[in-house]
Parts: sequence; structure tokens; C-alpha cells
Amino acid sequence: ARAKLGRRNIVFVGLMGAGKSAVGRMVAQQLRVPFIDTDVEIERVSRMTISELFATYGEEEFRALETRVIKRLLRGGPKVISTGGGAFINDNTRRHIARGGISLWLKADLEVLWERVNKRDHRPLLKTENPKATLAALMEKRYPIYAEANLTIESRDVRKEIIVTEVLAAI
Ligand code: S3P
Repeated sequence: ARAKLGRRNIVFVGLMGAGKSAVGRMVAQQLRVPFIDTDVEIERVSRMTISELFATYGEEEFRALETRVIKRLLRGGPKVISTGGGAFINDNTRRHIARGGISLWLKADLEVLWERVNKRDHRPLLKTENPKATLAALMEKRYPIYAEANLTIESRDVRKEIIVTEVLAAI
């Protein structure tokens, strides 16, 4: 898989809780290429947490920063990049990703996503009255766009290693 990758980046896209960072990190280890999580990189350059960025500047400013960070990260592959759930939904960011890498949608159903995001409360988009319904609404809106990714892998409720093997076979 490493030889086939050449200088291209693998860019994980999909909703929060799909396992983009966990699976992406393991795929990068297997391929012996660097792994970068765009949320972590955004927090590093802004010296703020994602929640603070949303609260201070709003979602639109966050998206603009996210686009710039991802554009820069795509230069000089090969790398594995895991993106925040909204990144691929943004037209600008999606264009950059299409040029700079192989996009891979980790697709998961609502129960799997909920099970994973439920335990954490750092996601500003889920600070609503009914976070599960919010998650379901995000799925409805975003799934047709994630479907434009080059590859789709079902992130089922199995051991991560199994998903990693499937990703490596697909690229
Ligand atoms: C977001 C997902 C988050 C983070 C921000 C917005 C989204 O990333 O970028 O809270 O719009 O879905 P994860 O998918 O890593 O949780």
C-alpha cells in the first residue's frame, strides 16, 4: 500500500465519532508516514481549543481557518490527515482535498457515532437540547456530500484493526 500511495495524502473525512483520528493514526503507522489531525493542528496554531474558537469567532471564522490549515497540510505528502467533521462539507476545503489527496469517508451509522461522541462533551456543534437528534440531522445533511469522497469504508462496531486492514486494502 505504501508504494501505491506514492506522494499522495490520505485524507479521512466523515462525522465526529466515525473514528477518523484513531483509524487514521494506525493507518499512518502501518504506512510509516506522518499522521496529522486537523483539529489538533488548528488548536496548535490558534492556541485556542475548538470550543473556544467557535465561542469567540463563530463557525464561519473557524471554517476559514480550517481551510487555510488544511490547504497547507496537503502540501508535501505523503501523509495521513484526519479532518474535522465539517471540513469536507465546506466547498473550498473539499476542492483543496480533491487536489491534494485521496479522500476516504469513514461511514458509520447513528448508533455507532452516538456511542462514541456521547462520552465526550468537547464538540461545540453537539451542545444542543437534543444532541442525538442534532447528530442525526448532521448525518442527513452531510452524507450526500461525504459520498463524493474517493473511497468509502464502513466504520462498523468492530475492532479498529479490522477497519485499518480494510483501509489499507482499499488504497
Ligand atoms: C465539527 C467536527 C469536529 C470539529 C468541530 C466541528 C463538525 O471535529 O472540527 O467541532 O462540523 O462536524 P471531529 O469530527 O474530529 O469531532
